[in-house]
Amino acid sequence: MANSTSGDSVTQRLVRVLDTFTPARTVQTAAEIGRRAGLPPSTAHRMVGELVDAGLLERDDERRIRVGMRLWELATRSSQALSLRQVALPFMERVQARVREHTQLAILEQDEALFLERLSGPHSGANITRVAGRLPLHASSSGLVLLAYGERDLQERIVRGPLVALTEDTITDAAALRRKLAEVRSLGHAIAPGYIEAVSTGVAVPVRDETGAVIAALSSVLRRDDPVPPALAELNAAARGIEGALGFRR
Ligand code: PHB
Repeated sequence: MANSTSGDSVTQRLVRVLDTFTPARTVQTAAEIGRRAGLPPSTAHRMVGELVDAGLLERDDERRIRVGMRLWELATRSSQALSLRQVALPFMERVQARVREHTQLAILEQDEALFLERLSGPHSGANITRVAGRLPLHASSSGLVLLAYGERDLQERIVRGPLVALTEDTITDAAALRRKLAEVRSLGHAIAPGYIEAVSTGVAVPVRDETGAVIAALSSVLRRDDPVPPALAELNAAARGIEGALGFRR
């Protein structure tokens, strides 16, 4: 790739431009993109214009920029994660119909839990999860499942910290986190009461592929004092269903 005078390649600059979009920042002006991506204004305007022409970004009526449908289309078409979502959806819908709070599916991505899907009802309680959003591994029920069944290197890295406190109940102590991960493995599920939001309890179970490897976490976000066992039973049944559809035989 041709390099700019600052020495970074076109690809690196393109990645920086796309990385300025976050779950909380979905619309920006070209000038804001340039500033956040560390690009000179003229370069930012040119790149954004080219990306809009290619359909990877879109411009709204006020000339603000968002991620384009073409980018969604390309990413979705070939994504393994989205085939998992497709397989999981009917089972998630069943959990949702019965538990009526939030039902979500997460995978491990760069040391965080990345959410592929979230189903919620009109009367479901609080939930900070966003589709295509991330939560910390140590502070969410899905994250704890992904971490407990993850590689040793990953566990060591996360346990070493920093373990940021999101509420009074977040596990911030390395030894306590190790004990929690051992508990998750022995019970086969994670319960996270108030770890990420004081008003909610997350409950998550592992989902295995045909080789038996844990590839995802299926979870419910309940009101803090809701009973956990009914949701757990539904999550376990749904996880068995997804695993069967993926070819895993117990
Ligand atoms: C959890 O999985 O523990 C969790 C996720 C989102 C929330 C609360 C809990 O808002």
